[in-house]
Amino acid sequence: MRRESEQREKLVRQLAAAVRGASLYSITHPVVMRALEGFTGSALALLQRGPKVAIGCIGDDLVVDGTKLMLKTGASLGGFVRALRDQEIEKITLETGATAADLKGLVEALAGAKPGLVSVSDWLRTRGVRHVAIGKVAVEDDPAETTGIAAALKVYRSATTIADTLWQMTKAGEQPDPTPARKLIEMLTRMVTKDRTSLMALTALKKQDTYTFTHMVNVAVLTIAQARSLNLSPSLTREFGLAALMHDIGKINTPPEILNKPDKLTKEEFEVMKRHVVDGASILRRTPDMPALAPIVAFEHHLRLDRTGYPENIVDRELNLCTLVATVADVFDALRSKRAYREGLASARVRAIMSEPTGTFHPTLLRRFINIVGMYPSGSLVVLNTDEIGVVTHEHPADPFRPQVRVAFSPHGERLPETRLVNTWERNDRGDYPYAVVESVDPAMLQVDPLTLL
Ligand SMILES: [Fe+2]
Ligand SMILES: [Fe+2]
Repeated sequence: MRRESEQREKLVRQLAAAVRGASLYSITHPVVMRALEGFTGSALALLQRGPKVAIGCIGDDLVVDGTKLMLKTGASLGGFVRALRDQEIEKITLETGATAADLKGLVEALAGAKPGLVSVSDWLRTRGVRHVAIGKVAVEDDPAETTGIAAALKVYRSATTIADTLWQMTKAGEQPDPTPARKLIEMLTRMVTKDRTSLMALTALKKQDTYTFTHMVNVAVLTIAQARSLNLSPSLTREFGLAALMHDIGKINTPPEILNKPDKLTKEEFEVMKRHVVDGASILRRTPDMPALAPIVAFEHHLRLDRTGYPENIVDRELNLCTLVATVADVFDALRSKRAYREGLASARVRAIMSEPTGTFHPTLLRRFINIVGMYPSGSLVVLNTDEIGVVTHEHPADPFRPQVRVAFSPHGERLPETRLVNTWERNDRGDYPYAVVESVDPAMLQVDPLTLL
């Protein structure tokens, strides 16, 4: 009896050591491998004696198969208990049939999961780990439940983290898991529905460091917003969002030197870059549960209505509506990374898209898009005809050129002691507009984060 309880304690210590090691080093590090082997050996031995081993975490106590561990030195397992609590894990059950690979998966999940973003259960499901069950105390709180800029920022941050995970997973040779991707789209759709202004403002942010993931999320958000304005059904709107999210996934095969090259690509490099449309389509086609739209959009998103673009030699193909919608979003967002538009001003990007040759984009969709993102979207800094500077707080539903502005800086660029709201769409007694937006201003010039002024 005593021996058995010692074995259980050993099992938990070995698991904790393996998880600690795997979160510090790679899973293939000799130290981690040794810890993992120890844990696997103990777990398989215990599973030979009974159908299950349950490791529970109740408060500060660890309980294995209903017996509280009498820990001589609590400190060494403290970190492990804390990590379980952060993940809101109450119980880990190992079941007969678990293999060494399943146990390794558990260790990786516990080491790699991020509380509130990627849960251990999602991770296990994604990696196809079986015979390991996770019992949760509480459901994670849903960041999309509240509105406002802080809530939107939270949604946006967790969205880019999930996009990051999808990307890394696919890069590691696995299929992009549609489950977290759908959850992400659900979150974004709800946010766009409830609080379009805040989320749109965020897509205007410039984030060069994590460009790939913010790009995925931005294109999804901008596509969802357009789908909604087209009155598509909620389920089709979600499919549009998911397809848009995955449109560039084929770029996991593009060498980073080409992907991140700041200058113009050479002809050869461009040829390599072009492959991402075909690669993306084939990855998505092979992914179970991915909507049929996803590979179509991946394949078509660099084709234009006038048949220019790539893949070459595509004739007589009618582009899917989702492609037409996602393409506008894609180009609009991609302009953020171009040097000339680095300031991230939506107005400059809208002008650039509008000046594309006719036949590049669908004219009606383009007009709708500009109405959605606005010439001067919420959160952008603008200079008024009075030379005062303010932040756009609301867009006029019918006229993207006449927003509501919170004036915060004097014509000399000094911060005003008190801000005031100006509706640039309002006329005076003579029927003139006393206020008008002249142009957008780069927030970096004033060294201010416009979101703090909202
Ligand atoms: Fe692309
Ligand atoms: Fe793209």
